[in-house]
This record gives sequence, C-alpha cells and structure tokens, in this order.
Amino acid sequence: MSSIKQEKIREHYDTIADSYDHHYDHPRGRNYHSHISNYLIRALPPGGKLLDIGCGTGLFVEKYIRHGGNATGLDISTKMIEQARSRCDCCEFTVGTGEKIPFRDSSFDAVSSLLVFSYLRDPSAMLSETYRVLQPGGAVAICTLGKKLLTRGIPAIYQISEKMRVKHVVMKDFGEHYYNEEEMRDLFTRTGFEDIQVKWCSFAHIDMIDPLFQLAKKVEPFVEKRVPQLAYNIFVSGKRPE
Ligand SMILES: C[S@@+](CC[C@H](N)C(=O)[O-])C[C@H]1O[C@@H](n2cnc3c(N)ncnc32)[C@H](O)[C@@H]1O
Repeated sequence: MSSIKQEKIREHYDTIADSYDHHYDHPRGRNYHSHISNYLIRALPPGGKLLDIGCGTGLFVEKYIRHGGNATGLDISTKMIEQARSRCDCCEFTVGTGEKIPFRDSSFDAVSSLLVFSYLRDPSAMLSETYRVLQPGGAVAICTLGKKLLTRGIPAIYQISEKMRVKHVVMKDFGEHYYNEEEMRDLFTRTGFEDIQVKWCSFAHIDMIDPLFQLAKKVEPFVEKRVPQLAYNIFVSGKRPE
C-alpha cells in the first residue's frame, strides 16, 4: 500500500477543487453519483450524526442532511473543504485524514466514505478510526471502485492520461488500490464490525459517452444482480457491535 501518493492526491484535489462539481453537474454525473450514494443512504440511519470521510465538495453531506441528518465532513484537501463549506454552510468541515480522525471516541452515529477508499495508504487505520468514533451500534458505509473485470485496466489508463496531461478530475496515477469482496470482508471483520454486507454497484460509468451511458443504465439493475463481475464499484456496510 506504500505506493499510495497522499501528498500528490492532496495537491491534485486542491488544484481541481473549483472544477470538481462541473464533473457531476450534468445529467450523467448527477445520475452516476446519486446512484452510488443511494446505496449509502439506504445503509445508514436516517436523521443521525454523520461523519463523511473524504467529503470532497460536500455532495454526500448535502444529500444526508436533506434526508434529515446532521453531518460533518473531513478531507485532506483544504480547497475541497472550502467548496464544501460554501455548499453547506450549516455543517462543520475539517481538514484532516481519515487515517487519523480528529474527533472524540463514540461521537458519531454513522460514518460514510464515497469514492475515497482506494486512495487510502492505510485502510486498516481508517477502519479502526471509524470504529473508534462510532457509537456502539453505529453504522459505516463506503463505496469505491472495486477490483473487477472492467476496472483492471483503469490504473494503466490513469498513467497514460497523466503522461498525456489529460485534464480530468480523477485520471492521475496515485497508486490507487482496488479491493475485491474477500479483501473488504477481511478488513471489516478484522476491525470488529458486524452485519457486514458487500454489494457490487454501478455499470453506467460517468466517463462513458452518452448513448453508451443510457444503454448501460438500462441494463444496470440486471448487471448488479446477475453479472456483478461487470460492475465498477464495491459497496460495503457494517455496524459497530452494541
Ligand atoms: C473522488 S473524490 C470524492 C469526493 C466525495 N466523497 C464525492 O463523492 O464527491 C476523493 C476525495 O477524497 C479525498 N481524500 C483522499 N485521501 C484522503 C484521506 N486519506 N483522508 C481524507 N480525505 C481523502 C480527496 O481530497 C478528495 O476530496
């Protein structure tokens, strides 16, 4: 995991913070983000006190508070946090890493993390910290690109994109690690979580061109249920025992 380049990730998100939301501000982007964030919403207690790790510009924090909860965002990028503050001025946002969470024990009912886990240098530390800040009985839900058929070529695409100086909000070589179901179950179990659920989600990817995206959207429910090896993201939820 030592190849994860955290300083490069932070600098990158500081640089693209102003344009990050444009990526999700068209029907495809909103559709993709909302599809995967719905998995988290369904797994987390409504109306609770949430910590969102790697909150970025606050897209998920905004969605959670719309569902009646309170939320706090944490992110390593100061500029992403600035964007999040202007999106949700009623919420608290803090700069810091999910691997050393700057909050007291048992201070949240729920912890979420969306499109971040593959960037973590020390995923076990993030999960132990999540366990620590959750109240007994509290819930965690994450969603991230998973290790599957269609994601295998992504690191190579990102490396080439970086060499070709492609301007894109995520296409860079950060040494990301994609996890399969077994690795995720193992990480969550070793941390002490129970009621662990793992699902594969999303087939219509934000970077597909429109006709392809529409087609993929149509077959997405079938793929998620019957051919999960074609899904892009892995969703994992669990609970801290009472
Ligand atoms: C692809 S963006 C996702 C942002 C947001 N969760 C969303 O769904 O739009 C990844 C975010 O993770 C943050 N990040 C990466 N590594 C992190 C870490 N170790 N701790 C906290 N945030 C991190 C980045 O700064 C960036 O804002």
